[in-house]
Amino acid sequence: MRSDGRQKDELRNIKLEVGILRNAKGSAYIEWGMNKILVGVYGPEEAPPAIENLERAIIKVEYRMATFCSLEEHGKYVPNRRAVEISKVLREALSNLILVDRYPGGLIEVQILVLQAEGGTRVASFVAAVAALIDAGIALRDIGYGISAGKVNNEIVLDLSKEEDNLGQGDIPICITRKGDILLLQLDGKISYEELQSAIEMVRSKREFFENLIRDAFTRRYSKELSNDLVRHI
Ligand code: CDP
Repeated sequence: MRSDGRQKDELRNIKLEVGILRNAKGSAYIEWGMNKILVGVYGPEEAPPAIENLERAIIKVEYRMATFCSLEEHGKYVPNRRAVEISKVLREALSNLILVDRYPGGLIEVQILVLQAEGGTRVASFVAAVAALIDAGIALRDIGYGISAGKVNNEIVLDLSKEEDNLGQGDIPICITRKGDILLLQLDGKISYEELQSAIEMVRSKREFFENLIRDAFTRRYSKELSNDLVRHI
């Protein structure tokens, strides 16, 4: 039994909205348990000559925590090593999802702001970033999603809460495509090969849930736009 009463493969409540920022090309807002995260996507723009690659787009990802997002972050204004690490791993994961060779010489920027943190922000940021990229019209090779698996009370479970992350025996954030290709896998703790396999399998089994989450967010977005258009025409 988990501390918040969830089943071992049960996710916290997740809500996703897209197209919520006026001044970004694409945007998304995710609430995942108590996590609240905002993502804005800019581009493709022309990359500055110093960093441009004439064969593919350069992807820039900035993960930041608001100073009010958690007690740990309170009063800290400069990104710490962890924020630099998460920006890097998310950049690598997203660079393998975006069809970068469609945008030679281009720059695509993904800005992530964690408004409230409660465990699992890197995978929640990844899901919101995928939705914001789709909203910006950036070509992806597949839909991607992520979940933090982990080991708690000798059992592999999905979607660690902050408490489970702090007290558990292992934390395994995984980002994956709908087809099953792994884009990010980190491991903090001691876990057997079989346990790792079962964590990946459990994450794979949530594919349809995330497909629907993203699809429903876009359905809401465009039905709202459509009904606004209708009101304007009446
Ligand atoms: O957020 P994620 O689980 O991907 O990363 P983590 O490094 O395993 O951190 C676990 C949780 O600790 C975060 O989600 C935050 O709730 C909290 N944390 C924080 O608020 N500020 C930090 N500097 C580090 C961790």
